[in-house]
Amino acid sequence: MCGIFAYLNYLTPKSRLEVLDLLVTGLKRLEYRGYDSTGVAIDSPDNKNIVMVKRTGKVKVLEEAIQEHFSAGDYSEPVMTHIGIAHTRWATHGVPCERNSHPHRSDDGNGFVVVHNGIITNYNDVKTFLAKRGYEFESDTDTEVFAKLVHHLWKTHPTYSFRELVEQAILQVEGAFAIAVKSKHFPGECVASRRSSPLLVGIKTKTRLATDHIPILYGKADDKKLGPDQEIRPHGQSRELPVLPRSESTSEFMPLEEKEVEYFFASDASAVIEHTNRVIYLEDDDVAAVRDGTLSIHRLKKSLDDPHAREITTLKMEIQQIMKGNYDYFMQKEIFEQPDSVVNTMRGRVRFDGNAIVLGGIKEYIPEIKRCRRLMLIGCGTSYHSAVATRQLLEELTELPVMVELASDFLDRNTPIFRDDVCFFISQSGETADTLMALRYCKQRGALIVGITNTVGSSICRESHCGVHINAGPEIGVASTKAYTSQFISLVMFALVMSEDRLSLQQRRLEILQALSKLADQIRAVLKLDSKVQELAKDLYQHKSLLIMGRGYNFATCLEGALKVKELTYMHSEGIMAGELKHGPLALVDDSMPVLMIVLRDPVYVKCMNALQQVTSRKGCPIIICEEGDEETQAFSSRHLEIPRTVDCLQGILTVIPMQLLSYHIAVLRGCDVDCPRNLAKSVTVE
Ligand code: F6R
Repeated sequence: MCGIFAYLNYLTPKSRLEVLDLLVTGLKRLEYRGYDSTGVAIDSPDNKNIVMVKRTGKVKVLEEAIQEHFSAGDYSEPVMTHIGIAHTRWATHGVPCERNSHPHRSDDGNGFVVVHNGIITNYNDVKTFLAKRGYEFESDTDTEVFAKLVHHLWKTHPTYSFRELVEQAILQVEGAFAIAVKSKHFPGECVASRRSSPLLVGIKTKTRLATDHIPILYGKADDKKLGPDQEIRPHGQSRELPVLPRSESTSEFMPLEEKEVEYFFASDASAVIEHTNRVIYLEDDDVAAVRDGTLSIHRLKKSLDDPHAREITTLKMEIQQIMKGNYDYFMQKEIFEQPDSVVNTMRGRVRFDGNAIVLGGIKEYIPEIKRCRRLMLIGCGTSYHSAVATRQLLEELTELPVMVELASDFLDRNTPIFRDDVCFFISQSGETADTLMALRYCKQRGALIVGITNTVGSSICRESHCGVHINAGPEIGVASTKAYTSQFISLVMFALVMSEDRLSLQQRRLEILQALSKLADQIRAVLKLDSKVQELAKDLYQHKSLLIMGRGYNFATCLEGALKVKELTYMHSEGIMAGELKHGPLALVDDSMPVLMIVLRDPVYVKCMNALQQVTSRKGCPIIICEEGDEETQAFSSRHLEIPRTVDCLQGILTVIPMQLLSYHIAVLRGCDVDCPRNLAKSVTVE
């Protein structure tokens, strides 16, 4: 949800045109997080002003506007030190338009400009407070109040440093946010902070850094909040914003002092990897400030378990992983990467020769997990579907009750959680707000928290007691594909670990392990169906709806396939449990309703065949996904996709791939933007 990118060069000469180029490239990498509108802010050539350019639409539109707006001349002169901030938006407050695009400013003179990801929930209170002090608002956003609040604090507390002003403002706002602030009153400085939205700082120096740790400096502020009507005091006096004691950390301790240095503030690592692989993941309520080329990290309050420093980590990501290569879309590339990504998920964990599995991230917790009362698998969207897909196997191999939950619904219900529950939080991004909130809810109640994520350093990763990193590699297409198959395999591996010492389950384990060893080749075989799927897409793309039916291990594929069709093609689609057909959905079936059915030779085959007959006897003409050479099933339709035979519990990995391809091709035929579906964004950091 919204991408933030800021670039600060200190004693590293760069022209403003180069800075703009860096900002635009950074935004392109973050575009999957939101693409309603975009904007940048840099210094004017005389350094006296801040210039902003904003556009509705995607980064490309902004790029063209920048080319038009900034001709060479003054903008090509190198500057030794400069800070530029940039933003790509997924609208929460106010429609996508230039007026609502970030950066937002404090005043006509652009004294302070802010980019923000997340939601400031008490923005109305802050707005009322500021309006009474003469501030006029020009946008419908929550973000604008932050810029104006910093300005108000600056006017009332002229001795405060930039960092202190931002700290004071942060104390007044509630909600989830990541912000980066630039000011014409504090040239060459940048202050950034986060609370429940991701933000990292990339560091690029000519020589290797002298330290791998940035010490944290603490303040002593108490946590007063701006009340709903601060203006009205008991005796009718007007009241000023409560300003907290200045933090103790004003002593100019130089935590990371470098002569020539470049800093990158970004919502995620894909925006910085082409510049540096050295990053610090900020924690909630960290305030990162750069002044005179020096980065320092501050916290307003110290709690007992706080570490003394933030570690600089080295990213393992490669630049090629975030490029499209020869593919037309990231989604297409990610679908075709699956033979490799599933192997990467198993790499170093599954030993096919010794039939052994080790999940290093949860190894020590296995005895505790085996003693638990129940397993809960919690996620949203596609990640939730991976839980649905593996639930049956988990029940079979762990012999524990397994609940699967949509994070948002789980929270709405205030679901009872106990100390002896083990709760899995499944998330590609590791930042999904609903999932993160559910994690915190379960953690507070004493449950063991296991994270299943694809993003190292993400909030879910850091807040879990233990976990499995799915190692699918960066997923950039908004529609999740390879993360699903890797989450699926991670949960299968967990089930295998849990059943390691169960004699009665050894034969079953062996069968699954052997099937896992063949999976990559079988996925390659399924991908060869691409042109056949494209032909089927031609039959379907002008229709309004697609029903996808199956049951047992393949019900999750129906849900996931329908989600892919909806989000990419804007067609209606529904995943239907085939057993439920006669309880209602069968009424939808006639000779014109597109239907796709998954009918594989597994324990529910006969029941699936019943459903198939119910559909064909109502003149339905389903497309069938079936096993290679299964002529009996194929006889029911002229249109079928044959997939290789595998063990029942892994079928879902092979059946979902034709669904990914189908939704992709329908989207292309309908002229939809495959990587950036309308109204959506990857990494949903708002509730
Ligand atoms: C669908 C899709 C979404 C995500 C969901 C959870 O293609 O991408 O449904 O699966 O928003 O996101 P993560 O896995 O990042 O928590």
